Amino acid sequence: MNSKIRLVSGDITRLEVDAIVNAANSSLLGGGGVDGAIHRAAGPELLAECRTLHGCKTGQAKITGGYRLPAKFVIHTVGPVWNGGKSHEPELLADCYRNSFALASQHALTSLAFPAFSTGVYNYPHTPAAEIAVRETLLALEQYPHVERVLFVCFNPETQTIYETLLENELTDES
Ligand code: APR
Repeated sequence: MNSKIRLVSGDITRLEVDAIVNAANSSLLGGGGVDGAIHRAAGPELLAECRTLHGCKTGQAKITGGYRLPAKFVIHTVGPVWNGGKSHEPELLADCYRNSFALASQHALTSLAFPAFSTGVYNYPHTPAAEIAVRETLLALEQYPHVERVLFVCFNPETQTIYETLLENELTDES
């Protein structure tokens, strides 16, 4: 299970996986951050398909094609805005991972890449968010054994350090 998880740094739009997960907003009509990067790289057909989805609730996830991305699909999920931790943010963030994995399973996807959603514009504290990401991913890998590869994409050194620390006991060294 733990050999299925990998940390990668850099731009999620360049990853050739079955699905990259987008840190969207509830309109699903694009934005800044990773949302903006994914829409720029995927091209206008992505937005056209997103328009047919009529938005997405926080914690939920919806899937579209990947278009000009190397990834086959994009799973759009809406993370919670950090509001001090008293508005069910941890549960909603966990739901983002659970629902992304459930969608991946429904579409028989075997490789997924996650950005550290909610930790940018939505201000979720990095370490608690990473702890939820790792916890939910380990549970999902047990629940969905056909998933072969999960990439955590670290776009900045802070995120990278936090995931490395969290995963140092989990990652096996295949070298
Ligand atoms: N590849 C991988 N990760 C990225 C990229 C990229 N190209 N660009 C940004 N990130 C990282 C950020 O550094 C952060 O760690 O993605 C993480 C999530 O940050 P945001 O993109 O700001 O997403 P989030 O905090 O969930 O806020 C979502 O921002 O862009 C808008 O439309 C989006 O309203 C929504 C909100």
